[in-house]
Amino acid sequence: MTVLVTGGAGYIGSHMVWELLDHGEDVVVLDRLSTGFDWAVAEAAELVVGDIADQELVEDIIKRHSVDSIIHFAGSIIVPESVADPLGYYLNNTVKSRALIESAVRTGVKNFIFSSTAAVYGTPEESPVNEQAPLRPESPYGTSKLMTEIMLRDTAAAHDFRYTALRYFNVSGADPQMRTGQSTKGATHLIKVACETATGKRPSMDVFGTDYETRDGTCERDYIHVSDLVNAHYLALKRLRDGGDSMVANCGYGRGSTVLEVIEAVKRVSGVDFPVVMSGRRPGDAVAIVSRPDLCKAELGWVPRCNDLELIISHALEWEKQLALRNRV
Ligand code: UFG
Repeated sequence: MTVLVTGGAGYIGSHMVWELLDHGEDVVVLDRLSTGFDWAVAEAAELVVGDIADQELVEDIIKRHSVDSIIHFAGSIIVPESVADPLGYYLNNTVKSRALIESAVRTGVKNFIFSSTAAVYGTPEESPVNEQAPLRPESPYGTSKLMTEIMLRDTAAAHDFRYTALRYFNVSGADPQMRTGQSTKGATHLIKVACETATGKRPSMDVFGTDYETRDGTCERDYIHVSDLVNAHYLALKRLRDGGDSMVANCGYGRGSTVLEVIEAVKRVSGVDFPVVMSGRRPGDAVAIVSRPDLCKAELGWVPRCNDLELIISHALEWEKQLALRNRV
């Protein structure tokens, strides 16, 4: 039994590959290397460079490796980019996911884990938010992921196929053993940007919006360590293999930090007082979104191990230093 990880050369996918290998699983990665890196894929996993919508390729991989489960990360993930290029997001995240799901059904793959997002909620009326909250995405990114959740729901109703959609909050940090981390070029995610600024890769950084209705006027998010996130996927995989029903669950800690709080924490952990520019709002940003993690804990038996903003930041900072040392920047 092999697990197919799409997007396994990317940030979260490369951590997933290590999590699976650490648990003795056989892994094959499919990634077209548009934003990922071949060097990020652990050597013990085979990397196939290609597109998830190439059904001939996908179905050949599934048959050749006796794939029983797919963990699907491949996709585009930047909220403001999706506002500028909605059709690109619907192609990458929705249309291509449809092709992958169809390949799974055709070849009899029964377990499917999908990388969804808290962006499906938009700005919820109540925060922390649980899975029953209304789904009102505020960006094409969020809508493109929600459409895939709906395809999975309907596919599971029609076929011998079960899925788990995990709605990620703000994933950050790096593998504590520094085997992989976030290497994305031109990254836009707050902790990555702040760590790049602290390590001198950027001269300064912006705070997008200081007039939101939050405790300090900046947006609030639930930052979750990537290692805890991929562990939730591993638990979801075990549960599906044991016959668990399809489910959708939030992946966050249930604790919010504002943009300014994150920047202060990065300054504290790094010891560098880097320049920060107060700027206008960024299109597509929700004001505040924090997870209720109860379902993930109850159904998957998930026990977060890195629920500490400074720990997340210290791993992200260490990875920035590793990238420079390894000449990967
Ligand atoms: N921000 C800044 N300056 C920066 C970068 C970000 O002020 O240089 C702010 C953003 O405006 C936002 C907050 O930091 O208010 C977080 O922004 P990120 O880009 O780090 O993350 P997003 O919340 O936009 O999106 C992320 C993922 C999505 C996921 C979402 C869930 O990219 O996949 O978190 O909350 F859906």
